[in-house]
Amino acid sequence: MAAANKGTTIFDATTPGAKGVMAPDPGVPEPQDNWRLPDAYRRSVPADLPEVAEPEVVRHYVRLSTRNHHIDKDTYPLGSCTMKYNPKINERTAAMAGFSRLHPETPDDHCQGALRLMWELGRDLAVITGMDEVRLQPSAGAQGEMVGLLIALAYHRSRGEDRRKVIIPDSSHGTNPASVTLAGFDPVAVKSNEKGLVDPSELAAVLDDNVACIMLTNPNTLGLFEQDILKITEMVHAKGGIVYNDGANTNALLGIARAGDMGFDVLHLNLHKTFSTPHGGGGPGAAAVGVTKELIPFLPGSGIEREENNGDMRFSRKSPGSQSIGSVHPFAGNFGVLVRAYTYIRLLGAEGLRQVAEDAVLNANYLMSRIKDVYDIPYGHRCMHEFVASAVRQKKQGVRAGQIAKRLLDFGVHPPTVYFPLIVPEALMIEPTETESMARVDAYAEALLQIAREIESDPDMVNTAPHNAPIRKVDEARAARDLDVG
Ligand SMILES: Cc1ncc(COP(=O)(O)O)c(C=O)c1O
Repeated sequence: MAAANKGTTIFDATTPGAKGVMAPDPGVPEPQDNWRLPDAYRRSVPADLPEVAEPEVVRHYVRLSTRNHHIDKDTYPLGSCTMKYNPKINERTAAMAGFSRLHPETPDDHCQGALRLMWELGRDLAVITGMDEVRLQPSAGAQGEMVGLLIALAYHRSRGEDRRKVIIPDSSHGTNPASVTLAGFDPVAVKSNEKGLVDPSELAAVLDDNVACIMLTNPNTLGLFEQDILKITEMVHAKGGIVYNDGANTNALLGIARAGDMGFDVLHLNLHKTFSTPHGGGGPGAAAVGVTKELIPFLPGSGIEREENNGDMRFSRKSPGSQSIGSVHPFAGNFGVLVRAYTYIRLLGAEGLRQVAEDAVLNANYLMSRIKDVYDIPYGHRCMHEFVASAVRQKKQGVRAGQIAKRLLDFGVHPPTVYFPLIVPEALMIEPTETESMARVDAYAEALLQIAREIESDPDMVNTAPHNAPIRKVDEARAARDLDVG
């Protein structure tokens, strides 16, 4: 009998002679024989692989998969990151041989299905966001931001203008100022008002003819809808600036409100968040970038064109025009993520997508109302798809937000995002998402309430957490010293 593997790697489970079940060779040549690696490139000496019986292999990987927290295990309300459940049908469609075995250099006539999928996805996203054209090449939200900013740069340069400033609210996601700096602009912060929103009078104070762009996340990172959005877009346009939407929070708006109708000129969507692909250490991302008509010539490469001829449709890749900012990723981007996003949108349809947003907002408001008497909520009595609580009261009792997060792991749920946005002291940024049932949201609320009680009676219990996780509390000061980052 094979030994139980408590080691770290599958090699620790080796038992000489152990093997899995193999079906007898049917003697029929494999249909894809022409895909076989030529003999010259195949090894002659057998690889030094572990010898492990099938049940032990399965147990090893299942055990490893439960040592970390993931969305298939339990609630994962990591604010800003939209860790919603990823339907398994997405995986089935992405794995279809016609998609997964497609080579990116396949001639257009041999991959009409894939091109059609990308064309239809771009069109659907344009309808969902109210933009005139959408491209799918960037591979993450942050890269989408960079693309949007380079489009703004190319637009101003095409008009002979060298504008330097990009305005960002002080609540913005960390990638925003980083992208602004990388694109060569100067970031200028605008202070949020007492409601956590952009105040038009504060904006007026930093707005001038040198402003290339304003980057707004709406709903913002406090989970609040920018109430003066129409006025803001009008003010920036009046100064000749571009209005950029960090659309990473579009989960709250699907089927309800559209960036294009609010006056945004360019936006990015995080397809891996809003349209459900494993991400955040679990897989690659994809961003879509949408623009209004006047910015189409500056979009990055690999757009798809549809021609109709006597009822026949043909799809082809078009090369970027002379004003394009160029390619930002090889070929069409992370195609597998695009297939998943397409599946998700087609499966839900317009009504389903609207329900996603409504349920996400409902779950967040319900959770906020359950904990609001115990944790401070500095901004807003109502939220969109996420909210930011503050552990200032708990800090006075000797426990900081980061420790509350660690204690949550003992309850089998993932911590929220902590210490962000920066304008909220001891921030706990919570996004339950629409995929959690009321029972799961209640369990999360109960865990937070119990931790608050523990902080009153036994703060050490929280300060030494986690107690049940595979790895106990890490000495962060020491880790920082060892890594030389402290
Ligand atoms: C508001 C916001 N903007 C930008 C990003 C960056 O997206 P990515 O992590 O895909 O680069 C995120 C990520 O969660 C976000 O929440």
